[in-house]
Amino acid sequence: MNKPNYQFVLTMLFSAVFLLCDSSFAATDLQVLIKQCNSCHGPNGHTERGDVPALAGKPVSEIKAAIAQFYYFERHCPNKRPRTEKGTGSSTNMCSIASTLSDEEVAALAQFYNSH
Ligand code: HEC
Repeated sequence: MNKPNYQFVLTMLFSAVFLLCDSSFAATDLQVLIKQCNSCHGPNGHTERGDVPALAGKPVSEIKAAIAQFYYFERHCPNKRPRTEKGTGSSTNMCSIASTLSDEEVAALAQFYNSH
């Protein structure tokens, strides 16, 4: 009788679980990130204040390029206070925000704001 290939079965099982979890996490994370961005950039990137630019409808390539510039400190990043439902949050800036984002998150955010 053939011995079942446990290693193969386990690898497939872990891959499936990993992929399932990964995609559901990504969807939740994107909503959390969008909420964070909106707290300065306005609802879906439609700005409501003069000191933060709009993101809505911006070309994907421009959004990605701007984030890369903040990431490398090639563009100035003034401290701003986000506005949340709970009130005013503690001040932060685009350079520290850019440093927390993965390439996948930047791509997803750029797509989102481009289409809003
Ligand atoms: C604390 C407030 C704040 C938060 C939160 C914030 N931003 Fe910004 N963002 C700014 C400010 C202020 C600028 C303009 C900086 C400058 O003076 O050039 C900016 C600029 C940008 C630009 C360049 C826009 C342009 O027209 O050149 C992009 C793209 C951007 N932000 C994306 C994001 C994304 C994506 C998020 C969420 C992950 C985010 N921002 C979260 C304050 C914020």
